[in-house]
Amino acid sequence: MTVLEAFQNGERILLANGIEDAAFDCGCLFEAACGYAHAARIAHAYDVLEPEAEIQFFSYVRRRASGEPLQYILGKWTFCGREFQVGKGVLIPRPETEELAEHASRTVRENRYTVVWDLCAGTGCVGLTLALENSDIHVVLFEKYNPALAYLVENQQTLGVQNAEIVQADVLLPPPEGLPLPDLIVSNPPYIPAGEIDSLQPEVLCEPRTALDGGADGLDFYRAIKELWLPCVRTGGCLWFECGDGQGEAIALLFSDCARSRVHYDANHVDRFVEIHV
Ligand SMILES: C[S@@+](CC[C@H](N)C(=O)[O-])C[C@H]1O[C@@H](n2cnc3c(N)ncnc32)[C@H](O)[C@@H]1O
Repeated sequence: MTVLEAFQNGERILLANGIEDAAFDCGCLFEAACGYAHAARIAHAYDVLEPEAEIQFFSYVRRRASGEPLQYILGKWTFCGREFQVGKGVLIPRPETEELAEHASRTVRENRYTVVWDLCAGTGCVGLTLALENSDIHVVLFEKYNPALAYLVENQQTLGVQNAEIVQADVLLPPPEGLPLPDLIVSNPPYIPAGEIDSLQPEVLCEPRTALDGGADGLDFYRAIKELWLPCVRTGGCLWFECGDGQGEAIALLFSDCARSRVHYDANHVDRFVEIHV
């Protein structure tokens, strides 16, 4: 089978299985399996594919057609320009979370903060990015679940992050003792109301439920952070949260005894982040 025939067949299979971005996904899978990026694929359109590459490509296509997220098949995804290892058991970093990392990084620089805690760290995309962009700070990343922790440790090693430490901890319980206290807490916790999870897109349901489920109203983690973790934040410090649509004001209200708070919305007036100053 030629490169062109394989690609066209793969794309057809994805389209027939309702994959929206079939051409894009097919291109990524083709490159992962056969090593041909877009330009090389065009240049070599009539070359015959190596049998192993063809088998690998169609195995990836079948996984994608059955609803497995593209990122899990590729085993990596880009966040703020860096490649993070991802796979079953860890949340795939989202583009909107890049904005959270940018806000938090700017806050660190403007206030010359030195210690950051990333609660519910997952792959570590937020906390490790902050550590890499601010070499003079120390970042502590907290994560409860072993499968996510494994990716977190791997990402710290692969990205060569020296100024960060990983702590296995439950954010719904008090913080472990003996850690440097934070100027900034940043968190993208699970925030989907439990009753809404089953109606999410099938691909999202491939991701761990523990990364999504924020309790009955989605706010369990914000309440726990307010009660248990906020007291650790140094005076003059700050918290940056990602949140779900319609949650911003409720989170700001939870933290109403702090100095000030601000809800950040996207262009469609959907709640995205809450910034709280202590
Ligand atoms: C929404 S994901 C965010 C992951 C990552 N920060 C990101 O932005 O891609 C939430 C993370 O919280 C972790 N988590 C869930 N419950 C937790 C708990 N009780 N304590 C600590 N981490 C928890 C999940 O395993 C998951 O990695």
